Amino acid sequence: MLLTFEGIDGSGKSTQARLLVERLEAEGAAPLLLREPGGTVLSERVRALLLERHDLHIAPLAELLLFSAARAQLVAERIRPALAQGRIVVCDRFYDSTTAYQGAGRRLEDPAWLRDFNRRVTGGLVPHRTYLLDLDPEAALHRRSDRRGGARSAPQDDRMEAAGLDFHRRVAAAYRALALEEPARFLRLDGTRPADALHAEIWQDVERLRARNPGIP
Ligand code: ADP
Ligand code: TYD
Repeated sequence: MLLTFEGIDGSGKSTQARLLVERLEAEGAAPLLLREPGGTVLSERVRALLLERHDLHIAPLAELLLFSAARAQLVAERIRPALAQGRIVVCDRFYDSTTAYQGAGRRLEDPAWLRDFNRRVTGGLVPHRTYLLDLDPEAALHRRSDRRGGARSAPQDDRMEAAGLDFHRRVAAAYRALALEEPARFLRLDGTRPADALHAEIWQDVERLRARNPGIP
């Protein structure tokens, strides 16, 4: 079973992915936790190209293809084999990030083309559930600036975090639209709620999914 977490930077995805994996492990399961871009040697190298702040100019289409190259490798090398072994795969971001960040954020908007392209990149693999941590970009910015002692932007921001508030507003709106388009796959959660309350709701949902689909790896 493939479960993915989506949302803007700082919305609480990694926290929830970690809590879910710890809970599954405590139950004796052997889940696989992955983050995108990353998870393979190639994908980590691509991650460094994409996120480090360097002098390279990356055109929007090149950015789309690099994120997608990292994903194609991750699917082939880690996700498919783990699913074939019956493991639960928890992925911090997946192709919805490309739809939101490159499609809406970078305005590479041709929804039909992007949908088809994403499907090809993953070989048709669709998450069984996608948890959208919905948070306003302003609130996420506050969380990040709390961590850095009040500054709104900082040299440690990665290349995407440095893209600005309007960019992140478009990304957040795109995520909400995706959740409305695919209500059977998405569970939209209010990211302002406390982490333990969000975890409890996610856990309840995972238990329901597992009960409903006992045969799904
Ligand atoms: P993401 O992976 O989406 O970037 P993180 O899980 O790293 O987000 O969380 C970003 C920051 O917000 C961290 O400092 C984290 O401790 C904090 N945080 C996470 N979840 C919550 C929550 N539900 N409420 C308040 N703060 C949170
Ligand atoms: P990361 O630090 O892993 O995420 P977060 O800040 O949410 O904890 O950074 C990943 C960045 O890459 C994030 O800004 C979103 C961006 N991204 C895309 O633009 N497109 C994609 O397809 C993916 C997977 C990520």
